[in-house]
Amino acid sequence: MSKSSIAPITYQSSGVMFPETGLTAEDLQALGPKLEAARKEVLADAELWKNKGSVPADKEPLDAGFIELPNRLLDAYAKDRSQSELGRILACAKRLAGSVDRVVLLGIGGSYMGPRALFDACCHPYYNEQSRAERGGYPRIYFEGNNVDNDATQGMLDLLGREKKATGVEDRWGIIVVSKSGGTLETAVAFRQFLAALRTSCNNDAKQIADLVVPVTGESGRLFELSKAIGCPDVFDIPDGVGGRFSVLTAVGLLPAATIGLDIVKLLEGAAAMNEHFRTAPIESNVVLQYVGVCHALEEKRGLHTRVLSTWGKGLEAAGLWYDQLLAESLGKQERGALPLTVVNTRDLHSRGQQHQQGRRDKLITNVIVDQIRRDRLAVGRSELDQDQLNSLANKTLPEIMAAAIAGTNQAYAEDKRPTADLHLPMQNEASLGQYFQMLMLATVVEGRLIGINPYGQPGVESYKKHMNAFLRK
Ligand code: PA5
Repeated sequence: MSKSSIAPITYQSSGVMFPETGLTAEDLQALGPKLEAARKEVLADAELWKNKGSVPADKEPLDAGFIELPNRLLDAYAKDRSQSELGRILACAKRLAGSVDRVVLLGIGGSYMGPRALFDACCHPYYNEQSRAERGGYPRIYFEGNNVDNDATQGMLDLLGREKKATGVEDRWGIIVVSKSGGTLETAVAFRQFLAALRTSCNNDAKQIADLVVPVTGESGRLFELSKAIGCPDVFDIPDGVGGRFSVLTAVGLLPAATIGLDIVKLLEGAAAMNEHFRTAPIESNVVLQYVGVCHALEEKRGLHTRVLSTWGKGLEAAGLWYDQLLAESLGKQERGALPLTVVNTRDLHSRGQQHQQGRRDKLITNVIVDQIRRDRLAVGRSELDQDQLNSLANKTLPEIMAAAIAGTNQAYAEDKRPTADLHLPMQNEASLGQYFQMLMLATVVEGRLIGINPYGQPGVESYKKHMNAFLRK
């Protein structure tokens, strides 16, 4: 994909080529000029934002700051390791990781989905159950504040020991609270409740409390003011021009990821490599433009309004849900926009699979496939008890069974002329996730420009927030 050493993610769309129910090569070729124009517009948006130019009214809001962000963070870090934003994030993560055994991340929507996706994809699947040594000395992480569920909140507070005074690192915990606006009710309420419990745990020691709370928020707003009042030594900014669902590569995702020991430099390098690829690769080999072209053409020509992101493996569900939010909130406007749906296979072959195979023909299946597993291959194994008749498969490994499931499912769709495409991640790691995030954020804004919907802003979400507050405060 690019000159860098990052193994590239790839996109294959031969499975959509059905003249009667899918696309032809001519369909995609015909889209070429429009895709090129959309790429130019997105890059021009990024330049406009970078140069702080005046934004035309029909482009408001323009949150194109996410595009250059990975490059900007990496460049600044290369110039000054300690004073740069990335340096500050790494230092704070180290401090927090050394002080506590549990971190609770409070946030919702774009202030939750990205960190959650990184945790699920890149950590041991039972990370929080591992010993501190097995976790490499890093703290456990939990996610709350993404609901107003009484029993879930109480359960988390039970786990933290709400009335318990912490005596050492093993029972000390901290909070990363994330809210761009600083006023989202779910997060704000949770923060108040968890802060009260933290006070008890710290014996009301103001300095210790301040040290154990790290806010990530805009440069003004209620959370920012509260952070000042608490005296938090580290407060991280979500830069202007980066919307909530585009913020995974700001401190929103980087700080929690670094706190649990993930390689955030690799994450950003993956994203920067995707930027380079998006900018320079010709349409025919450009994963962003090909992905947009296929999705858009199938929606327009065949009415495939449902985009199923079919993740193969358990660790990518949250990465899929992150994309659900990105697509739905960015393009679900003006009574338009495709419906995103994340599934996890083989799990969901046993539930949604039936409908995807034989239900309404309104779906494009995009498989997300990890090419290289991280652990040794686990074989089925031979047994004296062969009543399950698995001895004939004794030497088959789980990755081989998974590969057969992917190939078998794709073949079953193909036999019924149902379009599928494959997105390959070289590995389930930070470099792949960085590419994945940046690819899909770019694809979303390219598609927005292509169909004339402003991908930025979320007036529908703001409207529920406003009414909920009104009900509560009247
Ligand atoms: O994409 C968005 O901007 C939203 O989904 C927000 O992330 C979400 O509403 C949470 O907002 P905030 O980070 O301001 O608390």
